[in-house]
Amino acid sequence: MSKHQPQELTNERIEAQYDEYLMPIWKSLNVPLRRAAGCTVEDFDGTEYLDVFSGISVTNVGHRNDRVVEAAKDQLDEFVHGCSYVHPNKPVADLAERIAEITPGDLQKTFFCNSGTEAVEGAIKLARKYTGSKEVVALEMAFHGRTLGSLALTGNKAYKDGMTPTINNVTHASAPYSYRCQSCADEDGCTGQCATDIEQVINTHTADDLAAIIVEPVMGEGGIVVPSEDWLARVRDVAHDHGALLVVDEVQTGYGRTGEMWASEHFDVVPDILTQAKGIANGLPLGALTASAEVADSFGAGDHLSTFGGNPVTCAASLATIDALQDGILDHTRTEGEWLSDRLMELEEQYDVVGETRGLGLMQGVELVDPTTTGPAGIAPAPDSELAKAVGTHLRESSQIIMGVGGFHKNVMRFQPPLTISREQLERTVDSLEQAIQANT
Ligand SMILES: Cc1ncc(COP(=O)(O)O)c(C=O)c1O
Repeated sequence: MSKHQPQELTNERIEAQYDEYLMPIWKSLNVPLRRAAGCTVEDFDGTEYLDVFSGISVTNVGHRNDRVVEAAKDQLDEFVHGCSYVHPNKPVADLAERIAEITPGDLQKTFFCNSGTEAVEGAIKLARKYTGSKEVVALEMAFHGRTLGSLALTGNKAYKDGMTPTINNVTHASAPYSYRCQSCADEDGCTGQCATDIEQVINTHTADDLAAIIVEPVMGEGGIVVPSEDWLARVRDVAHDHGALLVVDEVQTGYGRTGEMWASEHFDVVPDILTQAKGIANGLPLGALTASAEVADSFGAGDHLSTFGGNPVTCAASLATIDALQDGILDHTRTEGEWLSDRLMELEEQYDVVGETRGLGLMQGVELVDPTTTGPAGIAPAPDSELAKAVGTHLRESSQIIMGVGGFHKNVMRFQPPLTISREQLERTVDSLEQAIQANT
């Protein structure tokens, strides 16, 4: 049979094409996608799954949201490409203005790109231009992307193996991960040592030629790690004391994920540069970085550009996404996030293998542990990545629920559903998680 002859579309056929024609960089969830709507995705067998992962925290206003689809289609009928700086156009201009309105403080001017990684790369270049300095401090366990610049900032050897050298002048400091923190181990709450460590790292590992400190306000890939209330403000102060900018990477936390438009708002901190992607256009590829006019204007002609960045179709989709978020979805996220957090806390109290549950809004993590063994450095029970993997598989195969499994130790169940998820769907998810834990322990 000719390889171009049409064949029946099946899950197996798609998987076989992947094996043969795609680079093998990822083990998929084994749920090839035929169509999706709201919180539901369907494969080629017609099996419907409840999606509580949103394609890694992207389809915030629901798969194939009507308003977003309509806005994109309308723009497709006008023009598809203008290169945002070659032909100034309305979707790009309107979205930049809208982002200035919805971002905190004096954040005003935006550069558009195509992904989170590119947003981070652009932010570091801008911080270097503005400060005239070179060095960057990032955090252990952080994830900022996989290109050689953003990979240097990512604080996890798993992503770097065989890929070095990355860019230099990057140093890492402690993450605000109180559950496995040496300093917090014998205390009731957070001791704040992680913020102090950033100052210490600057003083001992850098030449104090600091352009930026980059942090996620809630660490996503690291395992839904929520810092203490005053941490982000302390990090900002350390950055400013050293003449550096605070870059807050909201690629995963932005666009309503945590119940506010930006996670920074929970901590009352205005970033100097704010990076965005993922939920920005509900699945159409778009990234952005936003800064004050003073910082942004340090970029001059030719300093940065992207051919596809700021595509008019994706920008139109983004405007519709923001409309939808502000039209009740943010409020819904807050209410349902609180319910979910309380319900997960019950699991933590009930099951020894649930080491910690934590999160903000509809970005919640459940850290699974082996209560019979002590974890790294003798702190907290050992991470149980095997259990997390088994629970994820059980949820998918027995309950038709797609849930992410991640974290630095690969032992965190990730609740990051479309923010439109109903209470009934959340109840089904938590009940199924409980059954999956029981079945695998
Ligand atoms: C905080 C953060 N920054 C950057 C990235 C990279 O984004 P992208 O995959 O769109 O390049 C991610 C992706 O997970 C992320 O979570």
